[in-house]
Amino acid sequence: MSDAKLAGAPDPSDFFRLDGKVAFVGGAGSVGPGWGNGKATAALLARRGAKVFCTDISADAVQETVDIIASEGGTAQAFVMDATSSDSVQTAVKTCVEAFGGIDITVNNVGGSVPGGVVEMAEDVWDRQVALNLNSAYLGCKYTIPHILQRGGGAIVNLSSIVAIRMGEGRVHSAYTATKSAVIALSRSIAIQHAAQGLRCNTVIPGLLHTPLVEARLVAQLGAADAEALIQKRAKQIPMKQAGTGWDVANAILYLVSKEAGHVTGTELIVDGGLAAAMPG
Ligand SMILES: NC(=O)c1ccc[n+]([C@@H]2O[C@H](COP(=O)([O-])OP(=O)(O)OC[C@H]3O[C@@H](n4cnc5c(N)ncnc54)[C@H](O)[C@@H]3O)[C@@H](O)[C@H]2O)c1
Repeated sequence: MSDAKLAGAPDPSDFFRLDGKVAFVGGAGSVGPGWGNGKATAALLARRGAKVFCTDISADAVQETVDIIASEGGTAQAFVMDATSSDSVQTAVKTCVEAFGGIDITVNNVGGSVPGGVVEMAEDVWDRQVALNLNSAYLGCKYTIPHILQRGGGAIVNLSSIVAIRMGEGRVHSAYTATKSAVIALSRSIAIQHAAQGLRCNTVIPGLLHTPLVEARLVAQLGAADAEALIQKRAKQIPMKQAGTGWDVANAILYLVSKEAGHVTGTELIVDGGLAAAMPG
């Protein structure tokens, strides 16, 4: 192809590079051995050249992520943060800016589900679900957005879940569904408010994943044998016949925070092996 035809075309060697960018990742550890969404995302953003400020409520989990990044030659710093606490998030953001000079990318990954419909769910459980799934995203956005705007724009990704858009008939998770649905609306609201300032905000909607968090939660709730049976049953429901991984989610997040997604804001990327598009049998 002639040079004229290639003029303005992207340089493939530069695809999905994040050199010079600072990423603030909430929930960058993993609740068990292996790769959860947050740990895989932190490692992937570092592999693409970002300096990653890794936060988590678990000191051990976040240190493990940072150690992996360092062993791969990347740059990362660990910080113990409770994503549901305003003071804690503000201190983390301040420390990140002092350490790395600013923030370009925010990933709000903290979240988790408790089963139950509204009638059987205790009010304090409901409140904790709102704090964990919605307030964590609100606080992560609230305190990083001013810094992203100071850099002339950047990108935020908030984590939702397929239960926000598809209601399972079996196990009901009313608070998780409501809060993860609100996360989508929150992302859209932020996206539109700040679109003209170069700040993009999107949501990743994972489907049924096989991550350490799922394994640990299911084993705790059901016991190892029943958990394994449910894991197999979940995989069969997925049109692609296998659960996604933390890396599938991390790849989607990398796209959304990259310059290649420069015209993408206020939307959702569903990572679910076709589940949301399928009609039961
Ligand atoms: N795993 C799935 O199947 C699945 C499916 C849909 C959506 N999601 C969403 O993905 C995100 C998490 O992904 P994952 O399941 O791979 O987990 P993960 O392995 O990324 O672990 C989440 C991390 O968050 C940390 N954490 C928990 N509470 C915290 C708090 N208050 N403050 C700071 N850190 C805290 C944990 O210590 C853990 O390291 C959640 O938002 C979850 O709702 C997961």
